[in-house]
Amino acid sequence: MYGVLQQRFDDLGGYLIDSKINEICNKFGIDSELLERDFSKLSGGEKTIVCFAKIMLSDPDILLLDEPTNNLDIDTLEWLEKFLQNYTGTILMSSHDRYFLDKVATKIVLIERGKSEIFHGNYSYYLKENERRILSEFEQYKDQQKMIDAMKKKIKQLQEFGRMASPSGESFFKRAASIQKRLDKIELLNKPETAKEIPLNFQMTNRSGKQVLAVHDLNLSIDDKTLLEQVSFDVLFKDRTCLMGKNGCGKSTLIKHIIDLYNGKSHDGNDIKIGSNVLIGYIPQVIEFDDDTKTLLEVARKTFNGTETQLRSSLAKFLFYGNDVFKRVNMLSGGEKVRLKLFELMQQNINFLIMDEPTNHIDITTREVLESALSEFQGTILFISHDRYFINEIAKKVLYVEDKNITEYLGNYDDYRNTKEKQLSLSKGKVR
Ligand SMILES: Nc1ncnc2c1ncn2[C@@H]1O[C@H](COP(=O)(O)OP(=O)(O)O)[C@@H](O)[C@H]1O
Ligand SMILES: [Mg+2]
Repeated sequence: MYGVLQQRFDDLGGYLIDSKINEICNKFGIDSELLERDFSKLSGGEKTIVCFAKIMLSDPDILLLDEPTNNLDIDTLEWLEKFLQNYTGTILMSSHDRYFLDKVATKIVLIERGKSEIFHGNYSYYLKENERRILSEFEQYKDQQKMIDAMKKKIKQLQEFGRMASPSGESFFKRAASIQKRLDKIELLNKPETAKEIPLNFQMTNRSGKQVLAVHDLNLSIDDKTLLEQVSFDVLFKDRTCLMGKNGCGKSTLIKHIIDLYNGKSHDGNDIKIGSNVLIGYIPQVIEFDDDTKTLLEVARKTFNGTETQLRSSLAKFLFYGNDVFKRVNMLSGGEKVRLKLFELMQQNINFLIMDEPTNHIDITTREVLESALSEFQGTILFISHDRYFINEIAKKVLYVEDKNITEYLGNYDDYRNTKEKQLSLSKGKVR
């Protein structure tokens, strides 16, 4: 019996398992210190790495991943991207992270209204190709409508001729009937649905001065914990600035501090100055409404100047139709809350929009709608985000919070990455 079991242990790779664990731990950068730690005490990123290492021990042919990037910090994300790019098996995954999809996916299956459609490329390819397909479907639809109209006209005409030539107009009716038969056989194309868009026209009648925000030698702490030390930066009119940094480094606290100052809740020091004529609109990380048991319509009416009909049609522009408006605001989804908040801000004359992780908890369509809306905004934008695709679309400047300091990078996320990589290879070069 012992011999049989021993053989089985050997067949299943039992003697090799330790060296395999070692090999995989090496590959995944898992050191012995981490191996000894209690799994429940690991950070989200560490847990992800350990889980992938565990999966790789069984040499799978297919990886099924359900939103693998949720809650990962950017370092772990980049690690996962590289890992999946080098993985030689098949991967089937769902994801809302468009940057990640661009890096990893080679094929996209779009599921919409119970139907699927295949795109042989990454996310950016899908975007372009989907638009092309919709346009071409629209052309085909228009052509078919034209053809149908022409056939109907022809039938009418032939029947008219037949009646005029009566009683010998039989052949006209026959021809009309044959066209009708062809018409009946045509498979009607559906009118393709085009993408939804919010026409965001923030009524920015009064622009702010050039200097929107001046932060000078700011020290920021919460309880006894120092978050920022001697930090300085400026925000100028029309800047599009993204505040980035690891979770817990103090981004939200800094933004809240600015908002409190703006609302007169805290004292105006010398370290933060808000410029003249600046009107701030703020979308916090967790969106709340004053009376959240009220309906969407009631909340929207509070900020709206105009008739009920005008209000309903304005709300429709924010994709709230029909019975949507009777939903209680505490029942709204993340995307709906962002849209309602934007609606409120649109009624005010804001010229400085501050957002704290606005794309968290909203689906890809709403993210795209938000991006196209923001690109129309004529004022200044300061936002916190980890969404690399969103940052690429919106930001012209990145403020990176690290070690209680803020470093400024010009450009979007990719520019920031490139600069960072260059600096890294330069500093490595110096060591050698
Ligand atoms: N009201 C609070 N009381 C005590 N500590 C807080 C409070 N709010 C945030 N913190 C702590 O301050 C640090 C920075 O938080 P936050 O500004 O929310 O970070 P993030 O950069 O992720 O937005 C974190 O360590 C957080 O736990
Ligand atoms: Mg935050």
